[in-house]
Amino acid sequence: MRIAITGASGKTGYRIVEEAQKKGFKVKKIVRKNSKVIDDSKNTETLRFSLNNKDALDKALENVDALIIATGARASVDLTGPARVDALGVYRQLQSCKRVGLKRVVLVSSLCTGKLFHPLNLFGLILIWKKIGENFLRNPFFEWTIIRPGGLKESEIIDLENIDYTNEDTQFKGSIPRRLVAKCCIDSLSNKQSINKIIEVTSSSKNKKISFKKAMQTI
Ligand SMILES: NC(=O)c1ccc[n+]([C@@H]2O[C@H](COP(=O)([O-])OP(=O)(O)OC[C@H]3O[C@@H](n4cnc5c(N)ncnc54)[C@H](OP(=O)(O)O)[C@@H]3O)[C@@H](O)[C@H]2O)c1
Repeated sequence: MRIAITGASGKTGYRIVEEAQKKGFKVKKIVRKNSKVIDDSKNTETLRFSLNNKDALDKALENVDALIIATGARASVDLTGPARVDALGVYRQLQSCKRVGLKRVVLVSSLCTGKLFHPLNLFGLILIWKKIGENFLRNPFFEWTIIRPGGLKESEIIDLENIDYTNEDTQFKGSIPRRLVAKCCIDSLSNKQSINKIIEVTSSSKNKKISFKKAMQTI
């Protein structure tokens, strides 16, 4: 499988790249001109351009089987970030997918998208803009999957972390290591039952262990 990953320089993005490599996928990492990309190993290529550059984006997305969107506004005093990145940036990526006929898209979003009264919205109404980004993807043209994680953790200690997979608007708190979110993104590409689903994920040692495949049969 050939996939493109935007936001591949991010803390979730680079882990998605690694999980894709483990599966033997060919990966196009799409990043900004000055993005710091951690690893440049086998089966990956790094493409540097702005997501506003339609031609470069179209060219990058031609002949790939799936796009994973792991872009997200970085915390900043610029409160327009969420609108620019989480809504408009997603829209631009999806328009490009339509132009080149790429249907399979996985979007890393967030728990609580669409909620107005939430402390995270102090950063440029991020949960509102993320919901708008999600809605652009929920379109019959696409075979879409939206992964909505709880608070993201850097921990790589995941052996005792079991994922609670639920559908839309059922979890409102909790956290999950970025590594597990990355695995969910890659698992969804190999599982047709994840198509046209919003999958909310948090993790804890208290959850019962369940495979992604089994979870997709129940949500
Ligand atoms: N933090 C949390 O607890 C949390 C919880 C739930 C969901 N999420 C969401 O999960 C996703 C991944 O989060 P993360 O913390 O792993 O991400 P992150 O490390 O902040 O990385 C964000 C990525 O987006 C890229 N990006 C930002 N602005 C961009 C722009 N204008 N054009 C192109 N690329 C741009 C960054 O590129 P550069 O490297 O060039 O900056 C980077 O690759 C995000 O959508 C985030 O909102 C986060």
